[in-house]
Amino acid sequence: MARHLITSALPYINGVKHLGNLVGSMLPADVYARYLRLRGHDVLYICATDEHGTPAELAAQEAGVPVDDYCAEHHTLQAQVCRGFALSFDYFGRSSSPQNRDQTQYLGRRLDQNGLVREESSDQIYSRTDGRFLPDRYVIGTCPFCAYPAARGDQCESCTRLLDPLQLINPRSAVSQSSDIEVRASRHLYFLQSRLAPQLRAWVESQENWPALTTSIALKWLNEGLEDRCITRDLDWGVPVDRPGFEDKVYYVWFDAPIEYIGATREWADQDPERRDWRSWWYDADDVRYTQFMAKDNIPFHTIMFPATLIGTGEPWKLADYIKGVNWLNYYGGKFSSSRKYGIFMDDALDVLPADYWRYYLIANAPESDDTSFTWELFAAQVNKDLADTLGNFVHRVLTLGSRLFGPAVPGGADPGPHEQHLEEQIRAGLRGYEANLDALQLRRAAQQLRALWSAGNAYLDLKAPWLEIKDSHDSARLTLRTAMNLIRLYGQISAPIIPDTAHALQSVFAIGNEPEPIGEAWPDGTPGILNRLTTGAPFRVPDVLFRKVTERDVETWRSRFGAPE
Ligand code: MF3
Ligand code: ZN
Repeated sequence: MARHLITSALPYINGVKHLGNLVGSMLPADVYARYLRLRGHDVLYICATDEHGTPAELAAQEAGVPVDDYCAEHHTLQAQVCRGFALSFDYFGRSSSPQNRDQTQYLGRRLDQNGLVREESSDQIYSRTDGRFLPDRYVIGTCPFCAYPAARGDQCESCTRLLDPLQLINPRSAVSQSSDIEVRASRHLYFLQSRLAPQLRAWVESQENWPALTTSIALKWLNEGLEDRCITRDLDWGVPVDRPGFEDKVYYVWFDAPIEYIGATREWADQDPERRDWRSWWYDADDVRYTQFMAKDNIPFHTIMFPATLIGTGEPWKLADYIKGVNWLNYYGGKFSSSRKYGIFMDDALDVLPADYWRYYLIANAPESDDTSFTWELFAAQVNKDLADTLGNFVHRVLTLGSRLFGPAVPGGADPGPHEQHLEEQIRAGLRGYEANLDALQLRRAAQQLRALWSAGNAYLDLKAPWLEIKDSHDSARLTLRTAMNLIRLYGQISAPIIPDTAHALQSVFAIGNEPEPIGEAWPDGTPGILNRLTTGAPFRVPDVLFRKVTERDVETWRSRFGAPE
C-alpha cells in the first residue's frame, strides 16, 4: 500500500466549468483516485476553487455583490456540480482560505530570505474614475497595428499581437469605460526564478515517463530562458503581501493558486487535526507519490513557476512525481469558451443525462495525444453502442433470462468447460491490460480495454446461447448464466473508476440486504477462478435499465439547445 497525493488544476471561481475543463483535470484525476483507492492505496485527492484575480472581482461586480460573498456562493455551486459528476475529492478547498494566506505568505518570505525576491518600481495604469490600478487586460483601446477598436492591453484579439497597455490608442478602463486614466509608478516584488533554472531543468530531465506534452512545454520554457516574474499586484482582493510598504498589494493569483494545493490540504487537516497530518503529505514526504492533472495551458505554471517556488525555499517541499497534461477538448472544432458561453457546461450536461454517460464518453475520448472534438453525433453513437448495447444490454439479457429460466438466484449447474477456460484467460489478460493502462494514466486505452472486457461477455453469451442450450441441458445453460453473472459482478468492480454510479448499481445486483461488501474484494485479484466466485443459490435482482439510448431527436434537441454548426 502506497500513499498517493492527487491534485487537479483548480477551477476558477467565476462560473460553472465546461466539459473541456472537466476532462482536462478533475475527471481524469477522479478516475485515477478511485482506481488507486479500490486497489487499496492511501489516497488524498485535493481540489479547490481558484478565487483570486481580477476575473473574480469583475464577475462579482457584474453580479452586484461583494467579492467574498460571490466566491462563497460560487464555491458552493461548483461543489454541487462536482458532486453531481461524482468527483470524489477528499477535500474541495478555497484559495481564499486563511490556511492558504498563511502558506502563501510563508513561502513568499522564504523566497525573500533566500535572496530570490527583488523590489522594483514599474509603471502601471491607474484609473482615477475607478480609484484603482488596472491589470493589462482591463485596459482597452484601439490596436496600434490593426486599428481594432476594442483591443485588450495584453493582446489584440483581432490581429493577435502582444501589446503593452501603453501602446493602445485612446486607452480606457474595461471596468468603467472611463478614459480618465494615468500612468503611475508602483513598487512590486519580482521572483528571481531564472536563478533556479538549473535545478528546474535537472528535475524535468530526470523524469522518464512524463507525457511528451508535459516535458516539451517545460523544456520550451527552460530553453527560451526564464524571466524574473512579478508576483504582486495592485489589487484589494487576494493574499495580502506581508511586507512594509506593500499594504495595498496582494500576491498575484498565479502565485497563490498552486500553493492552495498545500493550503487546501491544511484546510482538510484542520477539520480533524487529531487524525490528519497535512505535513506528512507535503514536507519531507518521499514516501508519497504526487500526481498532478491539468490541461496544456496550465503546464508552464506546474513545471516551472510552482516548482520554482517550492525549490526556492530550500526546504524539502513535495514536488510532483508525475504531471498528466492533456490537450484541448473542442466543441465541433471550436474552442469551448466560458466568456462566450460556447459549448456544454457541467450543470447543463447533468441536466441532459446522468454523470456516467459523460464520464465514460469523456474518458474514452480524452484529448491525450491531440485536441479532440466533441459532437453530439459522436457522443450519441458511442453512448448507444458501448453503454446501452454492450454493457447495459448484456446485464439485462443475462439477468432477465436467468431469472425467467431458473429464478432470481445464481444458478449452479455444470463445472466450467473449455469455453469458460478460454473466456477466463481472455478476461484475466484484459484485466491486466486495463490495470496497466490505468497505472500509466493512458485513459483512452484504459476505456478501450474496459469496453473490450464488456464485449467479451457478449461474445461469450452469443456463442453459448443459453436460450438454446436449455433445450438440451439445463446444467449447461446454468453454467453459462452463472459465468455471465460472474462477469456482471466483475464489471461492477472494474467499471467503478470510470462509471461509479453504474458500478454501484451492478454491485447491488447481488447485494441483498445490508451487507457492507456483498461482492467480496473491492478489486478483482485476477487469479484463476475469477469467473466462478459468486455463491450458487445467492439471490440477485434485476436492475432498472442502466443506460437509455440517445435518439436522433435528442441529438436534434441538444444541437439546437447548445448551438452546433451545420
Ligand atoms: N484556475 C486555473 C485555470 O483554470 C488553474 C489554476 S491551477 C493552480 O487555468 F495550480 F494554479 F491552482
Ligand atoms: Zn490588432
